[in-house]
Amino acid sequence: MHIWGREKDMLLEAKNISVSYGAVKAIEDVTFKVNDGEIVAMIGPNGAGKSTALKAVFGMVDIQSGDILFNRESIKDLRPDEHVSKGISLVPEGRRLFPSMTVIENLEMGAFLREGNNGKADIENILELFPALKDKRRQKAGVLSTGEQQMLALGRALIQKPKLLLADEPSLGLSPSYVDTIFEKLIAINKSGTSVLLVEQNARMALEIAHRGYVFKIGQIFLEDTGKNLLESEEVKKAFLGG
Ligand SMILES: Nc1ncnc2c1ncn2[C@@H]1O[C@H](COP(=O)(O)OP(=O)(O)O)[C@@H](O)[C@H]1O
Ligand SMILES: [Mg+2]
Repeated sequence: MHIWGREKDMLLEAKNISVSYGAVKAIEDVTFKVNDGEIVAMIGPNGAGKSTALKAVFGMVDIQSGDILFNRESIKDLRPDEHVSKGISLVPEGRRLFPSMTVIENLEMGAFLREGNNGKADIENILELFPALKDKRRQKAGVLSTGEQQMLALGRALIQKPKLLLADEPSLGLSPSYVDTIFEKLIAINKSGTSVLLVEQNARMALEIAHRGYVFKIGQIFLEDTGKNLLESEEVKKAFLGG
């Protein structure tokens, strides 16, 4: 019975995946999963392969071995826009907005990628979720503060109504108050039913909100546990939590 319950809950499963960039092996034989309803954190040093793992899930890099299942169906050969149709959206590292387009236009670009979109109503919903963007809806994305740009990048992914949100370093470079806001939004997004796979250099905050976490070392995962247990792990404390 226990096994059935676990399988029913499995949303994403990456099994033994390897990715190389030319001669550089970025990740090798890496396995992780996201159960329905979870926030899962990936932490670890720079260059360990966390972004590559997210890109593999989203179909942005080829995997040389292994498989990636979403709702128990292989997605490893799908293009990024096909992932969006399946219910997976990515907030990329560095936000990747269209700087000369307005807030609204950036959100429209997000909605455009989704099948059967009803853009206008959805844009209003996103602006309700991020009130800071409301008064700036006609401003160009490039003139927003870094924190506002990150809200917009998150909004552009959410307008696609993902079942699974992938977020790569969403708090990087943000002022402390925006870092808090981002984490609050991630919790709210998750409470509303979206599962989250989060790559973060802010290991403490990521593990505090995560149900489970994976700790990368170069090209591999060397620890996996609940967020709570990882926060209390001596190894994790020493390497990532400053003592
Ligand atoms: N486009 C690329 N071309 C070549 N090597 C890359 C590329 N992207 C990442 N790498 C290399 O792959 C490894 C993993 O990088 P990455 O997944 O970005 O790690 P992380 O997100 O954990 O910092 C690193 O050695 C990095 O230099
Ligand atoms: Mg990265």
